Amino acid sequence: MTTRVEIVNDFLAINVKPGKTIQDIVEASGSALPFGCRDGECGTCVVFVESGMEFLSDVTDKEKIVMKNIGETSPKARLACQMKIAEPNGQIRLKY
Ligand code: FES
Repeated sequence: MTTRVEIVNDFLAINVKPGKTIQDIVEASGSALPFGCRDGECGTCVVFVESGMEFLSDVTDKEKIVMKNIGETSPKARLACQMKIAEPNGQIRLKY
């Protein structure tokens, strides 16, 4: 039971089990998506969920604070270091 994660910029598609973070996936796949603090504080890892938000964990308080601080208002914006795959049998498309 996996969910397919596509990172559009890197032409990558990976099947992963729920519970994995996007950071785990990026580091295992060789994606060039940049990270900074890796703790939901700097905003370096902002990605845009083109589809499949329903297969991801809920937005955290840290994400809300960072988005406000960097002025990002898109409902598709998430922090790759904070969100996890929450549901199997899905498809998620990410851009950064
Ligand atoms: S790497 Fe700093 S918020 Fe994700």
